[in-house]
Amino acid sequence: MRTVKVNLKDRSYKILVGADLSKLGSAMRALKLGRQVMIVTNPRVGRWYLAKVEKSLEQNGYSVYHTIIPDGERYKSQESANKIYAKCLRSGFDRGGTILALGGGVIGDLAGFAAATFLRGISLVQVPTTLLSQVDSSVGGKVAVNLPDGKNMIGAFYQPKLVYTDLKTLQTLPAKEFANGLAEVIKYGIIYDKRLFAYLEKNILCIKKLDAAILEKVISRCCEIKARVVALDEREKNLRAILNFGHTFGHALEGITQYKKYKHGEAVAIGMVGAAKIAECLKLNAEEITDRLEKLLKEAELPVSIRGIKISWADYLRFMRHDKKVLAGKIRFVLPVEIGKVKIVDTVPLSVIKNTIVSLTKGSCK
Ligand code: NAD
Ligand code: GLY
Repeated sequence: MRTVKVNLKDRSYKILVGADLSKLGSAMRALKLGRQVMIVTNPRVGRWYLAKVEKSLEQNGYSVYHTIIPDGERYKSQESANKIYAKCLRSGFDRGGTILALGGGVIGDLAGFAAATFLRGISLVQVPTTLLSQVDSSVGGKVAVNLPDGKNMIGAFYQPKLVYTDLKTLQTLPAKEFANGLAEVIKYGIIYDKRLFAYLEKNILCIKKLDAAILEKVISRCCEIKARVVALDEREKNLRAILNFGHTFGHALEGITQYKKYKHGEAVAIGMVGAAKIAECLKLNAEEITDRLEKLLKEAELPVSIRGIKISWADYLRFMRHDKKVLAGKIRFVLPVEIGKVKIVDTVPLSVIKNTIVSLTKGSCK
């Protein structure tokens, strides 16, 4: 097991990578959390892991309750948060209670939002069970629910007390969901760590086969990078924006296709290729980055271009301009200048953005 520390003064916490769900109760006892724990999960994850987590907590003296939320992004909603508050109230929770998120990023964001807001904030423990949530969403404190008109529109920065990752949970994760998380893993290599990127290139097959030692090393390195970035810029005033590499096009693609065609990681994969192409066009990097990135993404079974849909330039522009990350109407890109180093640029000419989209769609942009 590896431990990564997120240093945020009195809100610091540990990420335990390669832990065992059956020992979660004792890890929580060490934090001296209150006696009541509300586990939030969904039917699919619950079927595999709820009983194990409940047993571990009960053996350590906790009073354990659960709220089951249906599976899916559309349940990352205020209504689902209301369901969690109601269950906490009925179970007599006070400010000493803890909400435990058992699941992927949807459950993590939703349960985190409920923890941030119930009684103005109770303790939160993240137990991420998808690769994406293990390397990204469970770390760094962004919690949110969606509005009918937009994703993650109501939220907070609210750090957990612990992130507890059992890599064995990945054994039940569908391959497509695993690939979805790999996009974020590859992202960390490009934005921060050329050695990680080279390691991924060398070990991608073993990673796909869920080699435990390699996964532990890779996932803990991703968490270290995210922890370092978050410790320097928790509220995304500047540096944290590098974590949005690939997200300018990615979010637009997800939004335009109403979150139905692409998983987040798939859209980010295409977006990362787009950003690399823009950097190339602006002569900020060498062409080698795009080639190496495309090759690794393909090996990870992720898309590198837009296929089978026609999207107008006007739609792209509208969605890129409405992203939460837009400041003063400027479309902001995170562009790779070399592998392991990126630059934030908000002056990319529209003609370059348009040409890049055409090259990503290979002629299918109207
Ligand atoms: P998800 O939570 O929807 O999980 C994907 C699917 O895998 C679901 O059907 C889920 O039930 C299933 N699943 C989860 N763990 C499993 C397991 N171990 N075995 C079998 N099935 C399992 O999707 P995700 O990709 O984990 O998260 C996406 C969400 O994360 C989005 O809502 C996104 O906005 C959010 N997100 C948040 C942050 C952040 O910083 N807070 C960062 C990135 C993404
Ligand atoms: N997923 C981007 C962030 O946490 O800032």
